[in-house]
Amino acid sequence: MLNSIEEGVILFSSAPSKTRSNDTEYPYRQNSDFYYLCGFEEANSVLILVKTGESTRTLLYVEPHSEEFALWNGARLGVEGAMKRFSVDEVHSMLEYPNHIKEILREHIALYIDFQDDSSILKLAQQSAKDLRETRGVKRTLRCLHDVTYLIRSQRLIKSPEEIEAIRHAISLTASAHHEAMKQCKSGLREFELQASMSYIFLSNGAMSEAYGAIVAGGNNANTLHYVDNHDVLKEGDLVLIDAACEWELYASDITRTFPVNGKFSDAQRKVYEKVLDVQLRVIEAMKPGVKRDWLQRYSEELLCQALIDLGILSGDREALMEAKAHKKYAPHGIGHWMGLDVHDPCPYVDDAGESLVFQAGMVMTIEPGIYIRADDASVPEKYRGIGIRIEDDILITEEGCENLSSMIVKTVEDIEAMCANQL
Ligand code: GLY
Ligand code: MN
Ligand code: MN
Repeated sequence: MLNSIEEGVILFSSAPSKTRSNDTEYPYRQNSDFYYLCGFEEANSVLILVKTGESTRTLLYVEPHSEEFALWNGARLGVEGAMKRFSVDEVHSMLEYPNHIKEILREHIALYIDFQDDSSILKLAQQSAKDLRETRGVKRTLRCLHDVTYLIRSQRLIKSPEEIEAIRHAISLTASAHHEAMKQCKSGLREFELQASMSYIFLSNGAMSEAYGAIVAGGNNANTLHYVDNHDVLKEGDLVLIDAACEWELYASDITRTFPVNGKFSDAQRKVYEKVLDVQLRVIEAMKPGVKRDWLQRYSEELLCQALIDLGILSGDREALMEAKAHKKYAPHGIGHWMGLDVHDPCPYVDDAGESLVFQAGMVMTIEPGIYIRADDASVPEKYRGIGIRIEDDILITEEGCENLSSMIVKTVEDIEAMCANQL
């Protein structure tokens, strides 16, 4: 990280704890950039990276050990524990941070921070910088404030072997959970019952969190893209779309499968399903180093538009339909997104010149085409109304092309029907 700057101070604070109600809190989740930089998972901590000429210093500030805190919440690592566990030059107590930050800023003209950070930790650094400016005898004062997130997130684009391992592990648990949901599914169940059987697999295997709120959407509910209610009854003859996945060591997986509630696709469902699957396979086949992400988006839209024409849902010249964005009514979202420490990894999609990024080995992107036909859409043949289908896998760009990291999760019509019948 320090290689990316000429000189200055990078200051990154941990994620704040969040109140759920009264005196209860949401489970703590570390800030992804902070975790990427140092791997420390406790709240109320700060990482400071300093570069002066060619020399560098890395300092981690942590909450000190406290008997009282340990009694109620469990022991913190404390200064000594963190020093043993993390490869930073120095670990200090948070109690020392206010004095130390003033001393550190006294020597530098550039500060790199997360512009979205509004923590009291950062405010204290900013106040120190102001105080120094008004202190007689201080010659060098801060004059450059940079957003450090672009630097971090550009690095986060290319996953290391260890990061890919964590993603693979998350996917392997997610695979078991999707297969279990297919086996358990029958009409009359509530959507949340499938969610519960998946959560059981995540938790009982040590994955303490979903990577995002699960979508278990029976029938027409699948046409609400961010449906998270998950309370409806699953009905005979409907499909169910499940977009659910766990995270492992803070690394996400992101998987969608759509299958028949009763285990057998109807003719109309199968027709739409096989079109979506065909689009997904073709898009994945096109992924390799050197391909532009923008091109892949355009290509996927052409394929989806053609699929809608083939199904008789759109009619007319494909280019004219594309121009009018007619396909967006039935395929409104993008083909995929970066995935890593965040399910929607906030890594750049364009370079400094605003040009679409080109795929490189080590990038991970979801590929998730979908066709959504609302039950009340009278402009579509009746047999298709109420069908919503998305198929989503997690793809690693490799030197040779790409690898579908979630290829073990069944998705052909035949395999899904066999899994639903518990025959795989
Ligand atoms: N699960 C969120 C997404 O597919 O983007
Ligand atoms: Mn996704
Ligand atoms: Mn998803």
